Amino acid sequence: MSKVKRLTILISGNGSNLEALIEACDTNRLQAEVGLVISSKAAVFGLERARRHGIPTKVLSWSEHRACGGSRSTYDQQLARCVAASHPDLIVLAGWMRILTRSFLDRFPGKVVNLHPALPGAFPGLHAIERAYTAWREGTIRETGAMVHWVPDEGVDTGPVIRVVRVPLRAGETLEGLTERMHTAEHGLLVQAIAAALAGEVGSLGPSAAEARADH
Ligand code: GRF
Repeated sequence: MSKVKRLTILISGNGSNLEALIEACDTNRLQAEVGLVISSKAAVFGLERARRHGIPTKVLSWSEHRACGGSRSTYDQQLARCVAASHPDLIVLAGWMRILTRSFLDRFPGKVVNLHPALPGAFPGLHAIERAYTAWREGTIRETGAMVHWVPDEGVDTGPVIRVVRVPLRAGETLEGLTERMHTAEHGLLVQAIAAALAGEVGSLGPSAAEARADH
């Protein structure tokens, strides 16, 4: 029997994608366990979700670190120590709102994956769903989507793609409606992508991205 893989999950907020991964582990859709959840912000709901499932949590507040004179690099060194102590097979950025520096990434080559709510190359950075919605209203796109990709360097939402889900826009769609559909699509995508990454089906050097389409 293959060993249960360990996930360390980094969050900054609501944690609905974290919850999707926890549920997938609990129902054996993922042969994995969540060993640790780290948040860059205190008092976010994602921490509560983890605690309800008995999963260890840690807050490493970026705002406090910065207020005490810390840099991005010293923050990432501290983060790396916490993550290393949890012995992860995979580190999942699931709503993690910080760009990781080399101080972190160099310690975990080929182990960090990120979820981003846009198609590869489209709308990197913040507010991707809102920006896609505006572009659709302006007639420049007909679909958006989400992706899970490896994080080899400090690029913003770039890196070899593991899985993509396409989300076509619908006539009369509201931003709220699109946002809800995007989150639903992300939850399924993330579980599939993590399963593929853990199975070694897609490596950070030679990925083969698969695409799904979320019409519902
Ligand atoms: C997701 O849309 C993710 O793609 C983006 O931030 C959101 C986090 O949602 N980076 P949640 O905290 O998992 O509910």
